[in-house]
Amino acid sequence: MRNTPIKKFLIPVLGVFEPLTFSMPFIREKKGLISLVIIAGLVSNLSLLFVPIFIGDSVSALQQGHARYIIRYSLLILLAYSISAAVSFALNYGSQYISQFYAMNLRKVFILHLLGKRFLFFESQTSGDLLSRGTMDIEATRNFIMNTFSSLIPTIFLIGEGLVLLYQVSPFYSLLLALATPVLVMLGMRSSRKQRTVWRMIRKTYGRMGEILQENIVGQRVIRGIDAEGKEIAKYSMETQRYYDENLTVGRIRGLYNNLMPLTVASISSAALAVGGYIDLIRGISVGGLVSAVTIFSMLTNPVSFLGRMVVFSENSRAAIQRIKDVISTENEEDVNSGGFNFQKGPLEFSRVTFSRGGRTILSNVSFRAEPGDFIGITGKTGSGKSSLVNLIMRYYEPDSGKITIAGKEIHEIPISILRRNVAIVPQEINLLSGTIKENILFGLESSLDEVEKAASVAEISDFIDSLPMRYDTLVGERGITLSGGQRQRIAIARAVLRKPAILILDDATSSIDPDTEERIFKNLKETLKDSIILMVSLRESALSFADKVLILDGGDMKEAEV
Ligand SMILES: Nc1ncnc2c1ncn2[C@@H]1O[C@H](COP(=O)(O)OP(=O)(O)OP(=O)(O)O)[C@@H](O)[C@H]1O
Ligand SMILES: [Mg+2]
Repeated sequence: MRNTPIKKFLIPVLGVFEPLTFSMPFIREKKGLISLVIIAGLVSNLSLLFVPIFIGDSVSALQQGHARYIIRYSLLILLAYSISAAVSFALNYGSQYISQFYAMNLRKVFILHLLGKRFLFFESQTSGDLLSRGTMDIEATRNFIMNTFSSLIPTIFLIGEGLVLLYQVSPFYSLLLALATPVLVMLGMRSSRKQRTVWRMIRKTYGRMGEILQENIVGQRVIRGIDAEGKEIAKYSMETQRYYDENLTVGRIRGLYNNLMPLTVASISSAALAVGGYIDLIRGISVGGLVSAVTIFSMLTNPVSFLGRMVVFSENSRAAIQRIKDVISTENEEDVNSGGFNFQKGPLEFSRVTFSRGGRTILSNVSFRAEPGDFIGITGKTGSGKSSLVNLIMRYYEPDSGKITIAGKEIHEIPISILRRNVAIVPQEINLLSGTIKENILFGLESSLDEVEKAASVAEISDFIDSLPMRYDTLVGERGITLSGGQRQRIAIARAVLRKPAILILDDATSSIDPDTEERIFKNLKETLKDSIILMVSLRESALSFADKVLILDGGDMKEAEV
């Protein structure tokens, strides 16, 4: 279909309900409340619309000398306002309730998806941007949905009801209003188009600002260590300036159109009063009728122009929805149903595994086999693919071809949660949480303190913990900042040991530990995890000398070291 002006007009107008459609799955269970709020929107305005009718009637009554009716009409007007006020409360509270319920459910879905994403997803996103999607974007849509219930729907009802009432009083005025409506709405849309582009830029800039702040908080030691504060401040100042400019642009566009609107509304109202009043008087409408018609007409022009503004608002909210959808509707890690799955311990086998990243082959046709009880060293130059290889076992990434099996079962047939419960990795970059030592070792498990202590002693960290005044309840600071590198590594080893994994992966996990302690840790591990497979990635001769067998990665190929 061609891009006709009608289509250009209708699509954005209909799009005003897109946020509502998007919110439905999250609020469906509040059907009753939703219906109630919609009915409240219908009633709250209807009662107000009767006010001009009562005013007109009282003018007519006065004209005819029936002064006693005045009390009756005043009471009716009071009643109409009271009904409207009572219903408005329900309307506002109900809209708040529904929109908050929506946001709460969406936030839960959001984090669920975030944690279910493939690792590759995060490599193409920045954390500042994801953060702003999970907070600002969700809040922007919540706000719009609240406005949909509290203002948009009631306004549409108001215009419909008003047109019908106005038609009863003066068909001419209702025709005038019907004609003015598209003009007013279009005006709002014009400004919406102008604002949309800038809104998107604002969002991006905001995300980048968050990113820079975060990098500076997380990496402040590095940044200050290399004396890069000046550069970082300049970078942040530039984005802040941009944010400032973009917001001012939106302010200008908004200021212009927001003033143009009331002016147009006022012109239309005045013209209507002049022309309509003249025609109606000629046609012999009563003075009371004319008062009602003019009052209803002027009660409706503002709501109509508000519709145009809602189209403007919705642009912003729809951009936010798109960004949220990018997270909650893109592919997650493939998983198989974990119900009734029985994990079998057994040999780990790579057969002709090929893996590439960013168009470069990292591992090509790698094959090896490890039996329970094996302690296997993996080495190779930096960047040779050691971490990539062990990450494949965790299914952090998927190989391009080849098979990885545990006890003969391909790992993608094992439910991810079960696989990761039985394969423990101590990663090259240790991540501690900002809790106590005990919480960091438990990491979600519910083992007894006794077991935690045993795991700590296997990792040769128990003496250190015992020397602390608060022992296992010592707080480690954000990301373990109060511990040394080697202490952090040993806590991470204790965490892995506590899980009694069938396969334990140490990815350069003893690089900051002195050779004597390292030796004791390996001995302990061999003893405690007798039937487990231990894969140890290391660059150090001393560590590798403990392995039963050492595999060397070189240029994507794997070969066994001669002993
Ligand atoms: N996210 C990524 N996207 C693209 N390429 C990556 C990514 N991560 C790593 N690589 C590349 O994959 C190759 C193997 O990296 P890997 O981390 O497996 O090496 P490694 O042997 O563990 O090195 P190191 O001894 O330094 O830890 C490297 O060339 C690296 O540049
Ligand atoms: Mg590595």
